[in-house]
Amino acid sequence: MTVVKHNILNDIAVIEISNPPVNAISAAVRIELLETVNKLSVEKNIKAIVITAPERTFLAGADIKEFGKDVDAPILSEICDKIENLDKIVVASLHGTPLGGGLEVAMSAHYRIAAPKTKVGLPEVLLGILPGAGGTQRLPRLCGVSMALDMMLTGKHVPAEEAFANGIIDEIAPNDKTVENGVSYARKLISEGFDVRPTSKITSKVNNLEEIQEIITNAKANALKKYKNLFSPHNIIKSVEEGLNLDFPTAIKNERRLFKECIESPQRQGLIHSFFAERAITKIPELKNGKPSELKKIGIIGGGTMGTGISMAAMNAGFDVIMIEQNQEAIKKAFDKINSTYDRNVNLGRMTTDQKSQIINLFKSDTDMNVLNDRDLIIEAVFENMDVKKEVFIKLNKICNQKCILASNTSYLDVNEIATVVDNPDRVIGLHFFSPANIMKLLEIVVAENTSENTVSTAFMLAKKMRKVPVRSGVCDGFIGNRILSKYLVGTYHMVEDGASPFHIDKVLRKFGCAMGVFQVIDLAGGDIGWATRKRKAPFRHKDDRYVEIADRVCERGWFGQKTSKGYYLYGEGIELFTPNPEIEIICNEERKRVGITPKNFSDQEILDRYIAAMVYEGAKILQEKIAIRPSDIDVVYTNGYGFPKWRGGPMKYADMIGLDKVLANIEKFYQEDKRFWSPPQLLNDLVNNGKNFDSLN
Ligand code: 3HC
Ligand code: NAI
Repeated sequence: MTVVKHNILNDIAVIEISNPPVNAISAAVRIELLETVNKLSVEKNIKAIVITAPERTFLAGADIKEFGKDVDAPILSEICDKIENLDKIVVASLHGTPLGGGLEVAMSAHYRIAAPKTKVGLPEVLLGILPGAGGTQRLPRLCGVSMALDMMLTGKHVPAEEAFANGIIDEIAPNDKTVENGVSYARKLISEGFDVRPTSKITSKVNNLEEIQEIITNAKANALKKYKNLFSPHNIIKSVEEGLNLDFPTAIKNERRLFKECIESPQRQGLIHSFFAERAITKIPELKNGKPSELKKIGIIGGGTMGTGISMAAMNAGFDVIMIEQNQEAIKKAFDKINSTYDRNVNLGRMTTDQKSQIINLFKSDTDMNVLNDRDLIIEAVFENMDVKKEVFIKLNKICNQKCILASNTSYLDVNEIATVVDNPDRVIGLHFFSPANIMKLLEIVVAENTSENTVSTAFMLAKKMRKVPVRSGVCDGFIGNRILSKYLVGTYHMVEDGASPFHIDKVLRKFGCAMGVFQVIDLAGGDIGWATRKRKAPFRHKDDRYVEIADRVCERGWFGQKTSKGYYLYGEGIELFTPNPEIEIICNEERKRVGITPKNFSDQEILDRYIAAMVYEGAKILQEKIAIRPSDIDVVYTNGYGFPKWRGGPMKYADMIGLDKVLANIEKFYQEDKRFWSPPQLLNDLVNNGKNFDSLN
């Protein structure tokens, strides 16, 4: 299949690239583009070449699927150099999202024109790499070092107008007819006597070396704080700094060397896995035939932590919201929380007062559930108690119209059981938001036995409108995320009772790259929540299960974490965040003594091994029971909802990277100590015995 073709219109050649869906620069594109450029370069009658990709978008970057594989084709950087050195004017006519290698091709052209809605960027950092086709050298020459570093270190997409104002593009087109616009711009350049203009020769923004050195020194200092665990941001800065002191061809070689270092780093593997994992989440059976219904009006029951967060997430997406609470006092408290959150956003300059009032106008509240009769969707966020939830659903069944979708935000409870009190359970679904729900990206969409395809499709559409990352989960205690969390929490308390310090465990996890340690998270979420769950589950606990009481001793003292100013850590004015509570070690020692355990030392590695083993153990069971459709969905849950480092790919990908056989060997070793907790899941045995990994199930 031909992916690059060209037309000649008098003295202008138009190259059209077509490699759907996003014109990724695959080997085929590179081969044919170079051939075409070579061919056109010797055509005497041609004065200008226009590069376009008229379909969905201009080139959205290198083909990410090729990274880490041996591909026998010219590298993009050579093609960019070839384009820049042509003795004919080259115009890139842009639209959509010219990103990464796409923008690098555009920057090697002599002039750039872009459709009004174009967004440009060098997002390689988000994939653990750096712009490897001249981007670290050409972008600073166009827009200056400060903006170039900002773009390359954040990966942000810059709108056409801003790109124009800063010299990245030269002209904004009137519409998105890229071929016509490119040709007429080229014609104008020729008629007005413009000549070739290699970006490498533009030096006006990179000649003040003193000023540049200051920018780079600051960038390095910031990067050490902000990206301390990451590899590629430091190489990006290095490439810019070193490149500006070298001649251009040597700077390009240097960039290539630093690019290769990134390609070889495990962070690249983890981040690229995350990229594709996040694009696989919507590949689920229900979305094949399901039809989303229209959503405009949403009802939210409960105005506590979650109800207020979900209300804001819904209003931010433009939905009309009615929130129900038990009394006026609770309504006032919920409204104050919502109002103050938006006030804070206004004060921080994140929104204007007008925008705030437009959003707040979408909010109504009531104590009478009957006002919900016109709603398209209800999200229940009342106390985590089956009886309370059923009572709410019984009322909703009577009040709401039959098409209205009824969702529960339960963290652990059985959505199938909740659905039994509704006449048509096909409209019942779990929508498990994460706290704070107006900020956290993850949304577990819990599909119950009778949930219809249309209901699931509507839930995914809601997620899209709310800009959430939806992951499908089946029904089980805790769904994907909290079920795995429960497993490693129990495992963590085993370690603590055996001698590990909670603060040591947290330190190891932070060093591994987790946003927070386990005990910091408990303090943030509130220790009382886990305590209530433990009490609920107590009657069903097997008599031989090992049960550690340390957490109960902490809760019995009323230490629920941040909300009570005391938990595993101390909180309050003048106290540094996450200062260990010294009494915790005393409780741990008392408990160890009470149950007759002589504490042993835990190395960092053993703590990490046990943490990963517990996650992988439960993840494998979740896959075995088909609660998650594929391992990468579990990774998305953990990297978007539980602070697991994205650059490690997620727990399942991480297990693949360190070797599933090693993880299984650890589980088997731990099994010798505790046969009930660590009995190896069948799926894990099967994968290892067949020489396969989790990726083989993706
Ligand atoms: N390579 C391979 N496949 C890609 C791709 C790429 N660069 N970009 C997107 N795709 C695929 C997606 O996997 C998806 O495939 P699927 O339909 O099979 O799931 C399909 O294209 C559509 O992608 P999205 O669902 O993400 O579509 P959107 O319209 O929501 O977003 C986009 C489009 C903004 C282009 C987004 O896909 C994106 O951000 N892509 C990545 C861009 C990027 O990182 N470019 C830099 C690459 S690295 C590079 O260029 C190195 C160079 O410096 C040498
Ligand atoms: P919360 O205790 O902060 O809020 C619950 C609110 O529901 C209270 O304000 C209460 O007055 C109200 N309420 C109770 N019964 C009601 C009724 N019949 N009608 C109207 N309002 C009623 O609890 P939170 O944390 O918001 O949790 C709510 C639900 O969300 C629970 O199921 C919980 O498991 C789940 N969840 C909680 C998360 C968290 O981090 N807090 C995260 C994800 C889910």
